[in-house]
Amino acid sequence: MGVIAARGLVKTYGSGRAARRVLDGADLDVAAGEVVAIVGRSGTGKSTLLHLVGALDRPEAGTIEVAGERVDGRSERALSAFRRRRIGFVFQFFHLVPELTGEENVLLPTRLPGAPRSAPAHGRELIERLGLGDAARRRPHELSGGEQQRLAVARALVLDPPVLLADEPTGNLDERSGAAVLDLLRSAATADRAVVVVTHEPRTSAMADRTVTLVDGRLRAAAPGSVGGA
Ligand SMILES: Nc1ncnc2c1ncn2[C@@H]1O[C@H](COP(=O)(O)OP(=O)(O)O)[C@@H](O)[C@H]1O
Ligand SMILES: [Mg+2]
Repeated sequence: MGVIAARGLVKTYGSGRAARRVLDGADLDVAAGEVVAIVGRSGTGKSTLLHLVGALDRPEAGTIEVAGERVDGRSERALSAFRRRRIGFVFQFFHLVPELTGEENVLLPTRLPGAPRSAPAHGRELIERLGLGDAARRRPHELSGGEQQRLAVARALVLDPPVLLADEPTGNLDERSGAAVLDLLRSAATADRAVVVVTHEPRTSAMADRTVTLVDGRLRAAAPGSVGGA
């Protein structure tokens, strides 16, 4: 079943002669259980695309459906509620809250309006299952990059969203911690969840079911095993 269906996405930055059309009719389909890697040169619009799919930003044209619901054309308020329920986002630089412990960071989304009452217990289970018990008791500055990123993935998964989006999640990690994060992302692609990872690392592409390349504002299928454009 298609969890993500984006059609004809257009996004321009700047205006007049400085206008730059970064996305120009991009289509993306991702099924449940699938991990899709998006590759492409720096500045081609990969982050922009992920932000549109994750409802952090809006396209000028095109449609986006996530888990059967339209993302485009909602009010700001409806969008933020939508994001909380449907999207988990992982960033290159983790974005954990420095004043909070690992556990408090993971549980942060469970304190937002609309979170199920069972969510904190689920979050603690997730921490245990991912082997993050020690990291969860510490603050981010006491942790390695890999531990911080695994906590960030746990935080993105705590409300059990149907879509997990990760923007260069291993870009700041060494080989070994990067591999642990990739394992985690791979295992997050369960029967009812789709995972999209932006990357320029061959190892990320290698663990994905499919790789697509962003060129000239559109996504194209990449040859298996290739990291076209990276
Ligand atoms: N908020 C913004 N305002 C103006 N230009 C932007 C903005 N965000 C991104 N861009 C530009 O759009 C292009 C695509 O950016 P981005 O999506 O970050 O690419 P990528 O993630 O593939 O490196 C780049 O040229 C970038 O400078
Ligand atoms: Mg980027």
